[in-house]
Amino acid sequence: PRPTRVMPSLLSADFANLQRDIERIPSADALHVDVMDNHFVPNLTLGLPVVEAIRAVTPTMLDLHLMIEDPDRWAPAYAEAGAESVTFHAEAAAAPVRLSRELRARGARAGLALRPATPVEPYADLLDEVDMLLLMTVEPGFGGQKFLDLCLPKIRRARALIGAHGGDIWLQVDGGVSLETVERCVEAGADALVAGSAVFGADDPDAMVARLRALGDA
Ligand code: DX5
Ligand code: ZN
Repeated sequence: PRPTRVMPSLLSADFANLQRDIERIPSADALHVDVMDNHFVPNLTLGLPVVEAIRAVTPTMLDLHLMIEDPDRWAPAYAEAGAESVTFHAEAAAAPVRLSRELRARGARAGLALRPATPVEPYADLLDEVDMLLLMTVEPGFGGQKFLDLCLPKIRRARALIGAHGGDIWLQVDGGVSLETVERCVEAGADALVAGSAVFGADDPDAMVARLRALGDA
């Protein structure tokens, strides 16, 4: 059985109190950090200086999700800032193979993200080059959106492709993951769960991390 990793999205944390909110989720497997540039998605969040500041206050794995144009230019700097995982969007990358290799050369895991309407099959031959596939289960840009069930067949197909490939590639889902939807995701094959509003909207965020992980591992 695959262990389920729960990665709270800091997008739903209090940006004026990031360190405090990070300290509220000590059992997180990673901190998911959403970088948005107001071009690839219609929202603007944070960039390299804030990632460097987060790095300085936590030893927890940083899982960067770059929702930006031209990741070929910007992504390697996030690996150099000490992020253990850097994920860029297939729709935005000009040279995804070269970019993945640049990220790995800097010691980071390389992740490839797909929007809900982007099929996974064209990327099957890239699996050697990545450590994680991120499947968006909402349109990227905002937290607190409703999980798109139409993404479930793609999660299954991605799990089958990863199984056929044979490598240890994480399959991450991002968007609308909650107590209500976690079992669907894991049953379809996801083993890395991003959850923003579900975790930080809970009275006890760290207990919510544990509950989501337990449902995934059940
Ligand atoms: C949305 C971001 C997500 C977001 C998820 O574009 O990529 O990581 O924070 O938020 P929830 O879990 O609230 O859907
Ligand atoms: Zn994200």
